[in-house]
Amino acid sequence: NELGLVAVGFCGGQGKSGVDAAPMALIESGLVEQLREELEFNVHYDGEVHQYAEIIPKEDPDYRNMKNPRAVSAVTQALSEQVYEHARQGRFVLTLGGDHSIAIGTISGTAKAIRERTGREMAVIWVDAHADINTPETSDSGNIHGMPVAFLTGLAKEDKEDCFGWIKDDQRVSVKKLVYIGLRDIDRGEKKILREHNIKAFSMHDIDRYGIGKVMDMALGWIGSDTPIHLSFDIDSLDPMWAPSTGTPVRGGLTLREGDFIAECVHETGSLVALDLVEVNPSLEAHGASETVRAGISIVRCGLGDTLL
Ligand code: ARG
Ligand code: MN
Ligand code: MN
Repeated sequence: NELGLVAVGFCGGQGKSGVDAAPMALIESGLVEQLREELEFNVHYDGEVHQYAEIIPKEDPDYRNMKNPRAVSAVTQALSEQVYEHARQGRFVLTLGGDHSIAIGTISGTAKAIRERTGREMAVIWVDAHADINTPETSDSGNIHGMPVAFLTGLAKEDKEDCFGWIKDDQRVSVKKLVYIGLRDIDRGEKKILREHNIKAFSMHDIDRYGIGKVMDMALGWIGSDTPIHLSFDIDSLDPMWAPSTGTPVRGGLTLREGDFIAECVHETGSLVALDLVEVNPSLEAHGASETVRAGISIVRCGLGDTLL
């Protein structure tokens, strides 16, 4: 059981500092030892929380309404290479963020490696309060953590090499292979995009109506068996009761158990190839972020099959 771990201390996809400290907080809570000893993974980890300081440009004016476009582009391009290298060697890839903009790097990396290794198109399950599918033009905030899915699906494109022009077709995923779970705070422009492209989305309303068990059956049914899956888990999908330390909390979210259950179900398919855990911000919780960090560790363990008999 080979696992590649990438720790990404990056917060430039949004405005609040602190989310860059999450990988260290998760690792200090003993996550790596748990992966090695309890879950018996052979963990390939360079022992570093990457800050990418050497590649972040000093000058980074807004471009197409995006904030820090060159920084996010450079970091995600480097991350894409790291993730690709792990996935190419057949390792499961666990990435600890960082804000959700880093998914541009992780998913582009796995999508390309999976294509090369299996000739198949990878599916993405995006668990989040938000859709993160704004284009630079539909975004109100200009924060790139609200745009990764647009770049990954090609709904947003850019020729300028240092502003995501590096993303090529073999690193993209199809909107048909994308499934959302947990949505409850979607911008107007995003709703239009979701409707126009017929993107599969299970909102909190659907979870209330059908229950999480049925929703997972439907979500995995949409993807179909035997399709490699990348799970991108934003901790703000959980209700702030369980995960208060996050930059853009939205009430009315998943319980801790529903979050764990999602990760367990995806693990059970046997098709999970990568997991991102993002948007944990230890600095936003009064008593040391222990709750949110613990919730994050729980999600990771469930995604790796820990809680299944
Ligand atoms: N939709 C809002 C925006 O585009 C919020 C995005 C929040 N994203 C996140 N990864 N937490 O700015
Ligand atoms: Mn979110
Ligand atoms: Mn997100």
